[in-house]
Amino acid sequence: RTMSLVEETKRITAQFDYSDDNVNKGVEEFLRQMNEGLEKDGTSISQIPTYVTGVPNGTEKGLYLAVDLGGTNFRVCSIHLNGDTTFSLTYSKVAIPKELMLAKTAQELFGFLAKQIEEFLKTHHEEHFETHIRRRQTISSPEGYKDEHIFRLGFTFSFPVQQNGINKGTLIRWTKGFDIPDAIGKDVCALLQDEIDKLHLPVKVAALVNDTVGTLMARSYTSPGKTSTLLGAIFGTGTNGAYVEKTKNIKKNVSGDYDKSTGDMVINTEWGSFDNQLNILPNTSYDIELDQKSVNPGIQMFEKRVSGMFLGEIVRLVIVDMLKNPAVSLFRDDNSSSNDWKSTTTIGGGSSVLTQWGLDSSIMSIAAADSTPELSTLRQELEKQLHIYSASLEDAKAFKDVAYAVGRRAARLSAVAIGAIVLQSGQLKNGTDDPIDIGVDGSLVEHYPYFRDMIYEALRATKGIGPEGAKRIRIGIAKDGSGVGAALIALVAAGMENKGV
Ligand code: BG6
Ligand code: GLC
Repeated sequence: RTMSLVEETKRITAQFDYSDDNVNKGVEEFLRQMNEGLEKDGTSISQIPTYVTGVPNGTEKGLYLAVDLGGTNFRVCSIHLNGDTTFSLTYSKVAIPKELMLAKTAQELFGFLAKQIEEFLKTHHEEHFETHIRRRQTISSPEGYKDEHIFRLGFTFSFPVQQNGINKGTLIRWTKGFDIPDAIGKDVCALLQDEIDKLHLPVKVAALVNDTVGTLMARSYTSPGKTSTLLGAIFGTGTNGAYVEKTKNIKKNVSGDYDKSTGDMVINTEWGSFDNQLNILPNTSYDIELDQKSVNPGIQMFEKRVSGMFLGEIVRLVIVDMLKNPAVSLFRDDNSSSNDWKSTTTIGGGSSVLTQWGLDSSIMSIAAADSTPELSTLRQELEKQLHIYSASLEDAKAFKDVAYAVGRRAARLSAVAIGAIVLQSGQLKNGTDDPIDIGVDGSLVEHYPYFRDMIYEALRATKGIGPEGAKRIRIGIAKDGSGVGAALIALVAAGMENKGV
């Protein structure tokens, strides 16, 4: 009986193998789709020009505000850049209410964001706020304020936006479970500024930033040595990367003003939609089911195989499939005589294992980290989080193996994106042995054990990189990247205002 559980687990986990050969085919296709995205609009990888033309060197200074609408939380922070590669940061964080992710109007969501900014200013910058209120009584319009009384705000908005300037951009599509059709095609900076103005806050939305761009900037500000950072990537609720591209390689039209002197521009790849056409992406029956039942079938196909929001759901679908199979005997109540698979399991009523999105990918980290012979931590968590009672060691092993297979495939797919961007940059052939610096952030890369090790393993197997090349690639965490990064871009934007660009 146990044998068939072991065999079935092997059969299923084999479907998630992603061989070295697959990695290499993936890299080749990623490079092709990246370059296609640099040539024209409407491709799978959007390759969005960000109007950010350089990365910082750590000497930048000043006090800025930043807000960050990610997939799960909304954060407001003020950042003091000290100009010596260090900074101090004050922040507050709230979970985004689920109903706002599916609000009827954009105004409901953006009104909520402005309200959080007001609260933050009242709590942490009361003096500034009070000065502002007093001044408001004497000056009739917000434009009447002297510039130094207005906070410059960097807006990290972690969704695909067609940028038309450093603080202008229209929403292309929602991702990560958000769905507010009213906002599509609208300028998200204007939406936020309008709500800020309704509350008469002393805040100007100075820069629009994707979280990956923020991560890239922040890593570059703090990165050790003189090397500037090539890529900022998020492996969290969603996944995406932004990297420094030569402007001469950007064949499609980049309208509007930007500083042309550096010859570079940061590109937001939106790699979550890499290979939506499934030329090379693996596609198990579980991937198909997840996609069909999502709010955005057919898009973000890479993200749906890589990021935290989806990995738990893939594992859950596998587990449910195994539960339904009477021959497999997973989490089985042997005393039950019922024919209904739901009542023959040891899963408690109302368990989230049986609900869509009910399995949080954090339990995958717990599974991967548990190396006790009895898997006692994992078994406890199965009970606590998922109400799966008296799981046997064999049950827990099967769960761990499934989670590992899904997690490992995600890490190797992540290596496809990273490897392709390293190759695109040509830095491995620049005749030095300088590190190629990459800043990463997000719950997955931060908390999933061995995620980075598994990425490196795949990079070593990549043609054109190999073990020697992989040694030069330095992947480091850029914690809270988007706050600091957004502040840095707000600073660049303020400089552009002064130069009249
Ligand atoms: C945070 C960044 O640390 O990581 C955000 O500040 C980013 O900008 C987030 O969106 C991604 O991680 P997760 O796991 O919250 O999606
Ligand atoms: C999604 C968004 C993207 C963001 C990423 C990580 O892929 O579309 O803009 O960078 O999630 O948060």
